[in-house]
Amino acid sequence: MHFAAQTHVDNSFGNSFEFTKNNVYGTHVLLEACKVTGQIKRFIHVSTDEVYGETDENAVVGNHEASQLLPTNPYSATKAGAEMLVMAYGRSYGLPVITTRGNNVHGPISFLKR
Ligand SMILES: NC(=O)c1ccc[n+]([C@@H]2O[C@H](COP(=O)([O-])OP(=O)(O)OC[C@H]3O[C@@H](n4cnc5c(N)ncnc54)[C@H](O)[C@@H]3O)[C@@H](O)[C@H]2O)c1
Repeated sequence: MHFAAQTHVDNSFGNSFEFTKNNVYGTHVLLEACKVTGQIKRFIHVSTDEVYGETDENAVVGNHEASQLLPTNPYSATKAGAEMLVMAYGRSYGLPVITTRGNNVHGPISFLKR
């Protein structure tokens, strides 16, 4: 399960290369490692609903998994970029991938770490 990412949207406006390095390149490294070992039964990539960009609050139906990806900030753009690599490794190398696009999740120490 691949949770690792630079996640703080506000930071992504100031230092977006760190987001590309960790979120896109980091995901690529993990995918390649899984491909090389050939031992992975499932690669679960934890992405975000933010890849869809802004949702029209008057929309009758919200986003669904075939909705267009329209990221609006460097964080969500790098998460979308990572998703493209996950998809490509699934198709090109048969890596058994699943991508999740969850909404906000909070735990007991969510705010302590930031
Ligand atoms: N919290 C949410 O509401 C939410 C919603 C949707 C998706 N997500 C996704 O869930 C995942 C976890 O989010 P979170 O809220 O726990 O964030 P978080 O910032 O608390 O945790 C991310 C962790 O990734 C680690 N990390 C970053 N770059 C790394 C690297 N190159 N190598 C190893 N570790 C690295 C960080 O040290 C940190 O511990 C992220 O991929 C995020 O995009 C979170």
